[in-house]
Amino acid sequence: MVYKVIITAPIREEGVKLLEKETELKIFPYPPTEDALMKEISDVDALLVTTNVEKITKRLIDNAQKLKIIARHGVGYENVDVNAATKKGIWVTVTPVLSETVADHAFALILCLSRNVCKANNYMKNKKWVIRDPLIFIGNDVSNKTIGILGLGRIGSCIAERAKGFNMNILYNDIVRKKDLEEKLNLKFTSLEDLLSESDYVVISLPLTQQTIGLIGEKELKSMKRTAFLINIARGAIVDHNALVKALKESWIAGAGIDVFYKEPLPIDDPILELDNVILTPHIASNTVECRKRMAITAAEEILRVLHGEEPKYPVNKIS
Ligand code: DGY
Repeated sequence: MVYKVIITAPIREEGVKLLEKETELKIFPYPPTEDALMKEISDVDALLVTTNVEKITKRLIDNAQKLKIIARHGVGYENVDVNAATKKGIWVTVTPVLSETVADHAFALILCLSRNVCKANNYMKNKKWVIRDPLIFIGNDVSNKTIGILGLGRIGSCIAERAKGFNMNILYNDIVRKKDLEEKLNLKFTSLEDLLSESDYVVISLPLTQQTIGLIGEKELKSMKRTAFLINIARGAIVDHNALVKALKESWIAGAGIDVFYKEPLPIDDPILELDNVILTPHIASNTVECRKRMAITAAEEILRVLHGEEPKYPVNKIS
């Protein structure tokens, strides 16, 4: 029997090669709409969901007659209706092989903001360096500063490891207290309020859930130090975007490094694009050759496990 698999947007060829040995593949060039997926889903055995923007809804799942697994290429699965999948006996899996890479990107944003890397690069490229002025682009040390990590999961822990290397004072807040990591990495558990008011860098590494939507709004941004930076490598909707734009415009905080947005792609007329004290990247925190290979292979292997009648390695639901 030939299994039919849909990949919702291109992934690395290493994952494609694994799947094409045993399945009939359709790869969409860009994330499809729900209606485009509806046309295909009825006889599909496995769905590989490449990004966080395709909506894998109950309507879609209910129309899938043969679907056995929805494999997310990533760790966020808020775009998949897991309840609907579980009710139909469909596995939902993730690829928790990206934590180090995403943590690196959080630090790329921290360092670029603190050392004015993007502004200095533009200055050079615009041929503005005509005087050897020793006082231009004065930034801030990252070493010995306080970092507050919101969400000490796999990615948050990797951010803490990097922060330890920079000799930072590390605070964290999470719904679960991680005493082993507190000891190992010298972390201090604090309330959200204390974390926001004491940190020089607030880094969001939380999943998007009912509890975290809009967690950082006007009140929270106002409680941060005026010299502090906000870094978001998790999900845009955790931060109230309008409040963030206001905070940046009115200098409630020093700046922000943002990889994820309330809407992706971000509308081209969004006011955040005009601001000087923000560094923006288009949801690329896990985009390295090594990481994208691991993600593609992991997602493909999960699909093959399930099609072979085995249990997946990284499920987010339980099928009885
Ligand atoms: C994830 O893991 O969900 C990231 O956003 C990468 O797509």
